[in-house]
Amino acid sequence: MGEKWSMDRVGSLSGKVAVITGASSGIGYETALGLAKKDITVILGCRDLTKAQKAKSAIIYHYPTAQIDCLPIDTSSLRSVSAFATLVETRYGKLDLLINNAGIMMSPYHVTEDGFENQFATNYLGHFALTGLLLPLLKSVPGSRVVTLTSLSYKWAEIDFDDLQAKKGYSRRTAYGQSKRACLIFAYELQRRLAGAGYNVRSVAAHPGLAKTNLDKYFPALIRPLGSLFLQPARQGALPVLYAALETAINGGEFVGPNGFQQIRGYPGMVDSDDYSTDIKVAGRLWKASESLTNVSYLS
Ligand SMILES: NC(=O)c1ccc[n+]([C@@H]2O[C@H](COP(=O)([O-])OP(=O)(O)OC[C@H]3O[C@@H](n4cnc5c(N)ncnc54)[C@H](OP(=O)(O)O)[C@@H]3O)[C@@H](O)[C@H]2O)c1
Repeated sequence: MGEKWSMDRVGSLSGKVAVITGASSGIGYETALGLAKKDITVILGCRDLTKAQKAKSAIIYHYPTAQIDCLPIDTSSLRSVSAFATLVETRYGKLDLLINNAGIMMSPYHVTEDGFENQFATNYLGHFALTGLLLPLLKSVPGSRVVTLTSLSYKWAEIDFDDLQAKKGYSRRTAYGQSKRACLIFAYELQRRLAGAGYNVRSVAAHPGLAKTNLDKYFPALIRPLGSLFLQPARQGALPVLYAALETAINGGEFVGPNGFQQIRGYPGMVDSDDYSTDIKVAGRLWKASESLTNVSYLS
């Protein structure tokens, strides 16, 4: 792909329906804006509907004919994820694009209503369940896609199968790393399982490099402005996600990130991960554990 991929490569995709979680700010908002620009009907899946409505108004300000819906989802709650999936099915009955984007980074220790460590639940387990629950809608559209957001921080941790919920000791950094590692392993494994089942649904992993968003809200106040010096704008950070979602060259199983220095910034391109992320034994074990924890079983 050329050095500077842009949305100009993509024509109107009117009639397509996309779900994006965590669309109220940052990468999620910019991705939703990009999808709306291409006439895609966008469902903003947000835990705070006031913020979602603000995002919707901002998108409509840019694109007055945009079709935007706001539906409630808290990805840290299996009950909420399930209710959201039911709403999407009732209102739309099909899905072209699912973007698993919602996330928190390095938050204080917190156990969710389902008994999970919050970063693992919000960033990974909720999206594992959501993907399974929406799979029937995705299957009904040939060539539909699931894009799952990971991060360069996947390198911070492997999967601690003996202590997935960090009950034996909590590190904010390790928990974030594990959740993003799980998202990457999941994106690859989902593609393997979709292909194995003969479904024409594609799974792609994407990361935005380092982008200026609200993700650093749990960082010390003094550090936040310093970090901003290295960050690219959220709109640029959303480009790998839009590429993964819309570029025709995507076949499934790719990992898309910025092509610049250390994948921190730049334009979208294919990036490599590591042996652990592509290990099918690890992936199989994670899938089984995720099914058991979420009570959502699919493609197994
Ligand atoms: N920014 C970066 O440099 C960077 C780097 C690597 C990966 N990423 C990934 O990019 C994704 C988007 O993050 P961002 O940088 O755009 O940060 P952001 O501006 O903080 O956006 C995160 C979004 O997720 C939502 N969210 C958080 N917890 C949620 C929950 N329990 N249920 C539903 N929505 C929830 C937030 O909603 P509220 O507004 O209600 O909080 C917000 O809309 C994340 O997956 C993150 O890991 C970002």
